[in-house]
Amino acid sequence: MSNNTSSVTLEQLASLCKRRGFIFQSSEIYGGINGFWDYGPLGVELKRNIKDAWWQDTVQRRDDVVGLDASIIMHPRVWEASGHLEGFSDPMVDCKTCKGRFRADQLETTACPQKPSKKVGACGGDLTEPRQFNLMFKTFVGPVQDDSSVAYLRPETAQGIFAQFDNVLSVSRQKVPFGIAQIGKAFRNEINPRNYTFRSREFEQMELEFFIPPGTDAEWHEYWVKERLAWYSRIGLAQEHLDKYVYGKDELAHYASACVDIMYQFPFGLQELEGIAARGDFDLSRHSEYSGKKLEYYNQETNERFIPHVVEPSAGVDRIALAVLCEAYRMEWIPKEGTDGDIREAEPGEKLPAGYEERTVLRFEPIIAPIKAAVFPLLKNRPELVDTAKGLYRDLQRRWPVFYDQGGAIGRRYRRQDEAGTPFGITVDFQTLEDQTVTWRERDSMQQIRVPIAEVADRLMDALA
Ligand code: GAP
Repeated sequence: MSNNTSSVTLEQLASLCKRRGFIFQSSEIYGGINGFWDYGPLGVELKRNIKDAWWQDTVQRRDDVVGLDASIIMHPRVWEASGHLEGFSDPMVDCKTCKGRFRADQLETTACPQKPSKKVGACGGDLTEPRQFNLMFKTFVGPVQDDSSVAYLRPETAQGIFAQFDNVLSVSRQKVPFGIAQIGKAFRNEINPRNYTFRSREFEQMELEFFIPPGTDAEWHEYWVKERLAWYSRIGLAQEHLDKYVYGKDELAHYASACVDIMYQFPFGLQELEGIAARGDFDLSRHSEYSGKKLEYYNQETNERFIPHVVEPSAGVDRIALAVLCEAYRMEWIPKEGTDGDIREAEPGEKLPAGYEERTVLRFEPIIAPIKAAVFPLLKNRPELVDTAKGLYRDLQRRWPVFYDQGGAIGRRYRRQDEAGTPFGITVDFQTLEDQTVTWRERDSMQQIRVPIAEVADRLMDALA
């Protein structure tokens, strides 16, 4: 399926996402809360499909990776060992003029809340010196709120994996090299959440800690960069919209030997989707030191004991969902029924050409699409059409999220599904009653063919393979 991110703005996307139930502002009826988002009926399916695709490819279809679901709140010593308590902070400045708080390293790209045409600082506001602000959300465990009950919402899922390394190793019969993967919520009290869902305060991560023998860091790092880059094609991101940012030696953490970010061309610029870091033995060594428990691997064949090194591909589900939405969104001119012409993308600001009508479509890959197919009876007042369509719908519904719609003109029903990104429309019409075939319509080409009703499920299965 061809895709293009060229023309969509975040405003257009946010409007469609709200209208069609992909993404809502959290607590909207109370005025919202900055940096928090809710996923509606279509959004929750989209996110689930992204997570399923990652889990299948990273865990289920591999012999050398197992899964974990660790708790969000962990022992506070975890965050001492990981270095988050001491160093997980961003530089912050206060503006004494407007009372706003801003990331000191993003002033040049942050609009002044009082003079939005100017950037913070350039607006003439009186800024304080930068100071470090820790991004972890603090809470208390149990009824007493004092220093002994302080805990933190995890700012990444990775530490749950390191903390359970020994348990997982002893039950999973894995040998190094092997990985532990986890999908789950993470929380960061970002100073300036921005770019829609891109930088949020609550988000989901998909992280893999791949444990390797010391000395193999470079080759495994290269392997995972390649694997992860290729994975994005599977979920429909065009390779020409992806890029790599390779960290220079002076940008790496002191324990890391390599780091590459996978970047996506968002409407607001090239930005990170995922980071892949070779972190040496830093994490296991630190947890060993702080917990007093040996976190080692014993190689029975060579009789060697060592602390494994780790390569960590760490991706954000919400950012990937946003990228997938940007990639899929198209405003198109389509020839009016009965006229000749090709479907083409509307240029920004272009007037509707004569003989064409407009459609908004989300060209999702079928495996990512929230709804896989919609089933329609041509007319709702003809029981013989409705019964057959409902029968087909119920049959498909046992295996996939499908949608049944009998309201309104068939063209409008197709268009509604185009906006939801449903790749296939299946219409039961009068010919169905004669020869047991249905109309199979493809979202992207809008082409319609006749397909025996008995073959519909197989066709859908092939499209979703
Ligand atoms: N364990 C390594 C780690 O957490 P990171 O680069 O801080 O690395 C990994 O985060 C990924 O998590 C990012 O590439 C991004 O996709 C996602 N992510 C990080 N902060 C985020 C935020 N505030 N909002 C949405 N996604 C975020």
